[in-house]
Amino acid sequence: MFAKRTNWNLTANRLSEAQARHRASGKALLDLSASNPTECGFQYASHAIMRALCSPRTIEYRPDPKGLETARRAVAGYYLERGAKAAAGNMVLTTSTSEAYSFVFRLLCNPGDEVLIPRPSYPLFDFLADIQDVRLKPYPLIYDHGWQIDFHALQEAISERTRGIIVVHPNNPTGHFNKAEELTAINQICAKREIAIIADEVFLDFSLLPQPPFSFVTNQEALTFTMSGLSKISGLPQMKFAWLAVNGPEAVRREALARLEMIADTYLSMNAPVQLAGPIFMEMRHGFQQQVMARVRANLTELDRQLAGQKQCSRLEVEGGWYAVLRVPATRADDDLALELLENKDVYVHPGHFYDFPQEGHLVLSLISPEGQFAEGMTRLLAMFK
Ligand SMILES: Cc1ncc(COP(=O)(O)O)c(C=O)c1O
Repeated sequence: MFAKRTNWNLTANRLSEAQARHRASGKALLDLSASNPTECGFQYASHAIMRALCSPRTIEYRPDPKGLETARRAVAGYYLERGAKAAAGNMVLTTSTSEAYSFVFRLLCNPGDEVLIPRPSYPLFDFLADIQDVRLKPYPLIYDHGWQIDFHALQEAISERTRGIIVVHPNNPTGHFNKAEELTAINQICAKREIAIIADEVFLDFSLLPQPPFSFVTNQEALTFTMSGLSKISGLPQMKFAWLAVNGPEAVRREALARLEMIADTYLSMNAPVQLAGPIFMEMRHGFQQQVMARVRANLTELDRQLAGQKQCSRLEVEGGWYAVLRVPATRADDDLALELLENKDVYVHPGHFYDFPQEGHLVLSLISPEGQFAEGMTRLLAMFK
């Protein structure tokens, strides 16, 4: 009865089963994978958030396929504050970055066409691609005192059917930003072969670098789709407010935008209250980001303090985002290690293979876990290697 594209293996894996058992047992869990900001002990201006959803204009229905102009202007203002000029007219609002990806896949790809994704990276892409009949091809990132794109492998991965290259800036979970030279090289490849750049900037604001990172939103050399949303930048995933900005050579940018507008018009998925509140929620990012950056810095400092007291484990460089990658001795599969940590130490951590690390010996730690939980979880984790 069902389409082949939904023939997923939906049986829970050993780790999710163990997680469910742990939850049912009622035992306290030290969650080092925490990524829902609303459950990490951050302060939110709750009353102001609720008030923002009560605009009198909420009862009017004036749909705009690209999203309310006031909301899109607020997004343009966000980029302008970073020194990047992005026109509200070049933007389409979506309920999530995931929806933005699906619009772009629909715009660019016929069934079976290919999009390149970085590896390791965020595991959401597989389902997004399956649903849109898109084939994903990984291009490797290499770690050598920092992450970089393996351009030789990227070029090899390109075929006649490649329609886009995804860059995650900074990437989840490697926490590295794409470098200016990499942007130049990607632009050359994409412009020459008429391939689009799809830039996921949901963690752009969470930078540990001395200089603010560039945004793809002003990229002009190749057709570029830049996306982000309130999920991460203001810590409001429940509001379902994200966007897609289109840039690049004038003719192709205009054509892409007209077609995207039609896709968006078919769904009109944004609701009025959240769009009306959008500018206020955007403003709230400052207070949220200050708290997150303080948490990320504190957890990294604690991580380094604990790592200094032993020799078995180390961490990779982090330039931004909410995660750190821990290197551990590959004496067993990462999955087995994560399972053992959960069952014997009440610590939950993501094994590297969730993110498609090519080798064993990697665990991913959330740096937004509450400080006490993070410190105790790390102590128990490192004790496994004593
Ligand atoms: C790199 C990356 N992109 C996109 C998303 C999804 O964001 P949204 O909630 O806007 O769909 C996430 C969520 O963790 C992410 O890590």
